[in-house]
Amino acid sequence: MRANAQTNAPVMGPGRGATLASHGPWTSSRPGRLSYLAFRTATREGPWIPRVIEGRVPREISGALYRNGPGQKETFDVPLGHFFDGDAYLTAIRFDEGRVSGVSRFVATSERIHEQKYRQMRYHEFGTRCPGRALGFKNPPNVNVFAMAGGHFALSEGAPPVQFEPETLACQGARDFGGSWPARTTFTAHPKRDPATGDVYAYGLTMALSPELVLARLPAGETAFQTFARVRVGNFYPVHDFMITKTYVILALPPVYINMWGMLRGRSCIAKNIVAERGKPLRIIVARKDGQGQAVIVESEPASMIFHHCNAVESADGNTIRLISMETDASAFQMLGGWGGAAGLEQPRSQMTEFVIDLKSRSLSRAALTENGPIEFPAIDNRQLGRKMGAIYALRTLDATDDPLAFDTLMAWDGARLREVRAGRGQVFGEAVALVDRTGRSWISHLGYDSEADETFLDIRAPDGLDLVARIRFGFRIPLGFHGCFAPSADALLA
Ligand SMILES: [Fe+2]
Repeated sequence: MRANAQTNAPVMGPGRGATLASHGPWTSSRPGRLSYLAFRTATREGPWIPRVIEGRVPREISGALYRNGPGQKETFDVPLGHFFDGDAYLTAIRFDEGRVSGVSRFVATSERIHEQKYRQMRYHEFGTRCPGRALGFKNPPNVNVFAMAGGHFALSEGAPPVQFEPETLACQGARDFGGSWPARTTFTAHPKRDPATGDVYAYGLTMALSPELVLARLPAGETAFQTFARVRVGNFYPVHDFMITKTYVILALPPVYINMWGMLRGRSCIAKNIVAERGKPLRIIVARKDGQGQAVIVESEPASMIFHHCNAVESADGNTIRLISMETDASAFQMLGGWGGAAGLEQPRSQMTEFVIDLKSRSLSRAALTENGPIEFPAIDNRQLGRKMGAIYALRTLDATDDPLAFDTLMAWDGARLREVRAGRGQVFGEAVALVDRTGRSWISHLGYDSEADETFLDIRAPDGLDLVARIRFGFRIPLGFHGCFAPSADALLA
């Protein structure tokens, strides 16, 4: 163990570090699907250094890559079976002149502190009901990380953003941005920063009898949100992502909602109260970023779930929008709920789809860009967000027919050329995040899990051909998780 130059905290070397006693033991004899093995409970917290770096990390990459995801799959004696369950577990991977160091930590929310203190599950998780007397519903900020309003935030979607200290990852508590975020309103796990203006856009759903979508902007350099549109949507639709273009904000509402009355009456978890509205279309909502006029709503069938969008651009006259999204059959919800069990999982229908929205005629056309087969976790170089349809990166599952979440392929598609790289045997990839170095060059990073070594790695790849530049082997495992972001160091931003 040695000192971390940045924090003076003890640094865990590979294969060492304190074992967490916070959860029931995970027994290695449990037969598990590869995606489950990659997500199972974290075993340590604190600073760490990687076991080995294969290849060379570009010295020009300067800053921290933050990754987030559920950190445990049991809360003491209760197994958590849903893909979304578990307290938030953050990892920061720092790049400095070719050197790499890290820190990983659970986000110590008040709900987590309470359960740790009493050493038992006390809150309903997204998909797992608390077997005893529950104190309420937990919305752990385990989905994404975003830097805004001068701080770093872990995001849940169902609850306010939770600020954390970027060096130590210490939890600093939930924030409402000086009271500017509306009360009793969710906050998206996928805010967007306009690359041209630096303004941040976000949305939430009011928790009311007749919910509204609230659209808001955080101007660059400011700390308070400004609401610019409200759209009544009828039910509590769990919209997970959205897009911005030069002029517009675009949201897709699949006909799937959360029955809030059922949750309150049954004191059950969210996943048990998801209702599919059969026969209803997908609604695409387009609102102007300047708040002018009424939002345009365009209907589309068949109605699939859209968890994530890839990118969107508008025509020069602003009359049409080209939107590329990941469509998944609504059966994905059943698959996600049964993920922790032993049974094989069916592949949901899944594809990358291009929508062309005509705002004048309020109509759209759609085209499948990939053949059937699991595809998810899209990523782009965020400097192109809403402005240029450049390369789209995404994860695919091509080998594991009974484990759709065991993403074994990373693809890059620029509209003309498709590049794919496959994970090795027993390995699974995590979502790509573009790292922009201090020269302005972009690199593609993604986590991976190697089941034979029971080890996490981070790959750094060239953006065009996805050639491997460096593989950073951690020497231990962190849960693979969902989303993240890259925060360039101050000197890289100034360069
Ligand atoms: Fe997401």
